[in-house]
Amino acid sequence: MRMYDLIYRKKLGGALSAEEIAFWVQGAADGSLPDEQSAALLMAICWRGMTTEETLALTLAMRDSGKRLDLSAVPGLKVDKHSTGGVGDKTTLILGPIVAACGVPCPMFSGRGLGHTGGTVDKFAAIPGLKVELSEAEFLRSLAETGFANSAQTADIAPADKKLYALRDVTATVESIPLITASIMSKKLAGGANALVLDVKCGPTAFMKTLEDATALAQSMVAVGKAHGMQMRALITRMDAPLGWAIGNALEVMECVEILRGEHGHSELAQMSFRLAAEMLVMGGAASTLEAAQVLVQASITNGTALEILRRFVALNGGDAQALDDFSRLPQAGQVVPVCADRAGYVAAIDGRALGILAMDLGAGRRDRNDVLDLGVGIRVLAQVGQRLAPGDRLFEVYAKTGATVAPEAFRATLEWSGEPVEPQPWLLAALT
Ligand code: URA
Repeated sequence: MRMYDLIYRKKLGGALSAEEIAFWVQGAADGSLPDEQSAALLMAICWRGMTTEETLALTLAMRDSGKRLDLSAVPGLKVDKHSTGGVGDKTTLILGPIVAACGVPCPMFSGRGLGHTGGTVDKFAAIPGLKVELSEAEFLRSLAETGFANSAQTADIAPADKKLYALRDVTATVESIPLITASIMSKKLAGGANALVLDVKCGPTAFMKTLEDATALAQSMVAVGKAHGMQMRALITRMDAPLGWAIGNALEVMECVEILRGEHGHSELAQMSFRLAAEMLVMGGAASTLEAAQVLVQASITNGTALEILRRFVALNGGDAQALDDFSRLPQAGQVVPVCADRAGYVAAIDGRALGILAMDLGAGRRDRNDVLDLGVGIRVLAQVGQRLAPGDRLFEVYAKTGATVAPEAFRATLEWSGEPVEPQPWLLAALT
């Protein structure tokens, strides 16, 4: 088999066989094929797409490039969640403990942040002492003892994805439905859960800008998961303004704990987390309808069991569980700088991507993979779309390093204003089962 022939056929829009795809993925992972040939094929796939059969074969070849986790030692259906990522998206820290508190084991592998979006691993790393890279034995113990396990993706899960993703990152080939599907689903299938709910983000700051594209991605991932015996559901959710009030790692932990304490229950972040948790509870067999599942979700908040699961998960994995009740034990910023409105009007839009970049510049995110984060810095977003504001009203509080210069106009520029009242758009755009 010659890689040249595969690239040539895909360039003309032809399909590759499962054997050809396996040949490519194996060669990319073990280094026997040159990067330029993989990069050329990735670009051809971006332009020409893949059939459902090809996407399935690519997912399987990537899954089988590494280890598959066996979670059968933990009884019951194991349910996972994947979000395609957005600024301020911290639903894992909220829904994982809720789902576990309702009796459904929730095993999750997460990523570190890069660029304007944060990563769940970095948010957990803001809890002092918490081990965020668990061994397989530690992961299983956490799942068995608390019902919840979260760890950074280990290098032996779908290593071909790591290699191909790094190439996609530098060749502008990330935004391709078959490539995103295979990348995400290979890791999810290797992770060993029985069911998966997807939160596919849609909007100007997401991979998928239109409802049509987001629906196509969700359908593609649902089809691949189902073909491999995974129960699948997907929500398509709007992504433009930041999700919740916090951007930045320790601040995001605080916001999640507040929601688990029963605060901000009507916020978009809480509503989205509760709905995703309810979907997971139905798939895990804890409830037969979403309405019944929502009752369980609310009970886990009001009776404190969800927050207690988070405390137990943190303590079991070496973290300071008291930091969840005493936020002064979390990493702190050197200074807090308020940014106020310089005009009157209604907030028409908030640019989440721009705020994500500003948070990255403060040290909350990575410009480069090797950057070291400042876990205490970030942004408290006080302005909300639809809100009527007067000059001098607080828009943001910027949590910065001591001595850092904060330019208020850069933060003010992330807002769009209107002279007329603005109706906030619903966060849930569509649901697929
Ligand atoms: N996240 C992934 O893990 N893979 C992609 O291709 C895109 C987002």
